[in-house]
Amino acid sequence: MKNIKMAVAGLGNCASSLIQGIEYYKHVDEKDCIGLMHYEIGGYRASDIDVVAAFDIDARKVGKDVSQAILALPNCTKDIYHDVPLKGVKVKMGPVLDGVAPHMMNYPEDKRFLVADIEPCDVRQELENSGADVLVNYMPVGSEQATRFYAQSALDAGVGFVNCMPVFIASNPEWAKKFQDRGVPIVGDDIKSQIGATIVHRALAQLFQDRACIMDRTYQLNIGGNTDFLNMLNRERLKSKKISKTEAVQSILETPLSDDDIHIGPSDYVPWQKDNKVCFLRMEGRIFGDVPINLELRLSVEDSPNSGGSAIDAIRVCKLALDRKISGPLLAISAYTMKHPPVQYPDEIAKEMVNRFIRGEACDQADAMFGKMQSVTAR
Ligand SMILES: NC(=O)c1ccc[n+]([C@@H]2O[C@H](COP(=O)([O-])OP(=O)(O)OC[C@H]3O[C@@H](n4cnc5c(N)ncnc54)[C@H](O)[C@@H]3O)[C@@H](O)[C@H]2O)c1
Repeated sequence: MKNIKMAVAGLGNCASSLIQGIEYYKHVDEKDCIGLMHYEIGGYRASDIDVVAAFDIDARKVGKDVSQAILALPNCTKDIYHDVPLKGVKVKMGPVLDGVAPHMMNYPEDKRFLVADIEPCDVRQELENSGADVLVNYMPVGSEQATRFYAQSALDAGVGFVNCMPVFIASNPEWAKKFQDRGVPIVGDDIKSQIGATIVHRALAQLFQDRACIMDRTYQLNIGGNTDFLNMLNRERLKSKKISKTEAVQSILETPLSDDDIHIGPSDYVPWQKDNKVCFLRMEGRIFGDVPINLELRLSVEDSPNSGGSAIDAIRVCKLALDRKISGPLLAISAYTMKHPPVQYPDEIAKEMVNRFIRGEACDQADAMFGKMQSVTAR
């Protein structure tokens, strides 16, 4: 079994946790392997992923070996495996485009991006030279142009694409078709973390529904202290993030809530929290006899390892699809690991679909579903 050659756009906290995690799993036995939703996917273990190319725009990361760049400021996530050995892969300068929000300049250098004064490389050429199988996109929220640029570069180079952020590519029928036509798979959009606010909110919404409890109102407020949260202080960049997070919960409900009765989104930036994210969730409803109930939950979790737990499966399934010459949007793994997939499925069904896909029992239905793709459907 060959390794998976991974390219990464955006070496922030999520990429850092992912790359440290890959190293971590090289050093633990199967019985001690904590935190993997799948130990093996089509013969690929987490430790079978190699970074072969990386792109960033930060002066503290560009030009460094990937193993050093993932520890550079402003990254601030908890270490999973600090001593990742040198990879012999230097981080290349990408085009900045809309990757850096202007308001960031009002914050201290150690908390924000610091754009390198270097000409961008030829990303397509770098992808081709590296022999990458899959490009993982970790652009900041609101980076519409930058994300489209990396998606197009993946298409041009014939590389699979895993879109971990909320610019809609896999769930945009035009883009999805481009990947289908080019013969490469795509997984997206916007990582649904392992035990994050979205999956917890979805599970509770499902519980209310299964137990005939009417949900009248809900909110999900999130705060954190990493550059993702700093970036999201700019409300103009948040449009697709709010859609992605809100639809992920609405899609569980037989009757979606009116806009006034649901509020979900990143709420504030608290620098000392670093990569720890806190989610405050409230659900109000009615049970037997029309009697009111309310539920409050506080979730505290290190944000970036939490995304790594899902990305590690998305990347391996993307490679499996490449091996099997399956192209276009991968519906099962997207529904399982992403907040805004081409088609939403209840999580237990998405899980079963992924397992069947891995076992080779079912195709991904992408062809059959293509004409019917829409963001929120399956229920
Ligand atoms: N649990 C999670 O952390 C989670 C969950 C879902 C989605 N996401 C999304 O994943 C994305 C990445 O999150 P993160 O926490 O790693 O963010 P981050 O701010 O730590 O990292 C972003 C990286 O992109 C780089 N960058 C900016 N513009 C660029 C460009 N044009 N070309 C190349 N590099 C560029 C920055 O220098 C930085 O290294 C965000 O959009 C986030 O919302 C994260």
